[in-house]
Amino acid sequence: MAEPLRIAIAGLGTVGTGVIRLLDANREVLERRAGRAIEVVAVNARERAKDRGVDLSPFAWVDDMQAMAARSDVDVVVELVGGSDGPALTLARAALDAGKGFVTANKAMVAHHGMELAELAAINSAPFAFEAAVAGGIPVVKGLREGTAANALTRIYGILNGTCNYILSEMERTGADFDDMLRAAQEQGFAEADPTFDIEGVDAAHKLAILAAIGFGTRIDFEAVRCAGITQVTASDIAQADALGYVVRLVGIASMEGDGRLLQRVRPCLVPFRHPLAAVTGPTNAVVAEGDFSGRLLFQGAGAGDRPTASAVVADLIDIARGQAGAPFSVPVDQLGSAEPGDPGERRGRDYIRFTVADRPGVLAEITAAMRDAGVSIESLIQRGRDHDGGAVQVAMVTHEGPEHCVTEALALLEGSANLAARPLVMPILKD
Ligand SMILES: NC(=O)c1ccc[n+]([C@@H]2O[C@H](COP(=O)([O-])OP(=O)(O)OC[C@H]3O[C@@H](n4cnc5c(N)ncnc54)[C@H](OP(=O)(O)O)[C@@H]3O)[C@@H](O)[C@H]2O)c1
Repeated sequence: MAEPLRIAIAGLGTVGTGVIRLLDANREVLERRAGRAIEVVAVNARERAKDRGVDLSPFAWVDDMQAMAARSDVDVVVELVGGSDGPALTLARAALDAGKGFVTANKAMVAHHGMELAELAAINSAPFAFEAAVAGGIPVVKGLREGTAANALTRIYGILNGTCNYILSEMERTGADFDDMLRAAQEQGFAEADPTFDIEGVDAAHKLAILAAIGFGTRIDFEAVRCAGITQVTASDIAQADALGYVVRLVGIASMEGDGRLLQRVRPCLVPFRHPLAAVTGPTNAVVAEGDFSGRLLFQGAGAGDRPTASAVVADLIDIARGQAGAPFSVPVDQLGSAEPGDPGERRGRDYIRFTVADRPGVLAEITAAMRDAGVSIESLIQRGRDHDGGAVQVAMVTHEGPEHCVTEALALLEGSANLAARPLVMPILKD
């Protein structure tokens, strides 16, 4: 049997302790599959004295995580600390500079600095892997890098944030409003104390940018992801969507347009009942990839948690132990293309638009006139009862298929209208 793969783990929280447990629980099968043992050599976290429920006594404790990169007895550094910059990034650079393998679950860092790290990895012939950074335990990075490698992909999309999916599917199940379900998600441990990154769609945008780079062979362009969260979605929108045959899900969509431009967006969408993503509830994640030969592929599973995320981290370690890490973004980093961002205005589709309006004559006429003048054709229009906050009422409509810039123009015509009590909410209807 070959020499063991020796690893150092920075970060001993949910994922770090999960990795230690997995390496211990599945030691024999891992050794057979990897062709050699995977051994933890050194560990680090902030607080040495904290009881983490795992036995750390066999490992060297390192006070300064940066020292891991310089240890001659370490082959791979595993970063499970988090944060797009700061100590995690310093460690990544130092480990790859030193020619060590580098494995991370840190989507924020990969979305912001993945290109630089992949370049460092290539220069130093060091493996760099981040399966756990996207959709927890779902092997979607490997699935796209290897499983769909024979295809030209047209679209990659999915439910990439378990917190939002829990909140939306619980709103659907209970009829409760967003704020109540956010509180419930925090109590259940499905949302952070500061949930901003999740509910504003930023976390999903990090993951989408990574998947788009892998699937389309382009450099990561996180800044180009247009992102809207779920804070504006109300119980009434969900009831309305249900009556029309849809559920509401936060969906990240990356599509390669005919002109070679890449459109990346994260938005709450109406998903038809019959679509596989409609059945994805709770904190589950799911990713759909559409290949020209494979057709539609669905990857689904736990998007977070100690065990699923550890499973993804250790899968990367097995690849490295076998010498099979491959190019982190499917093609060598110097051969990744750069796609111009697509123009969302050119997207053709149907939209759900919800207005909160004053309850007085002439309001509907103003809205429908703006739609007509901007070239938006209305398929159905529903007026709901009085809002409990006062005199406002909700008017929701579904448009016929058309270019998105027409909807934007219609809303611009209505901007500043005394009849609108709040900013309208637009949710695209996901195409099958
Ligand atoms: N949790 C999940 O389900 C999940 C899923 C997918 C990806 N991820 C990603 O995995 C990474 C880790 O997440 P987690 O949930 O395991 O986080 P966590 O439970 O908060 O653990 C973070 C660990 O990093 C240590 N740490 C934080 N700042 C440090 C610093 N400045 N110096 C040294 N150590 C420091 C903490 O030390 P102390 O324990 O001593 O405070 C803790 O052990 C993140 O990038 C996250 O986005 C997590």
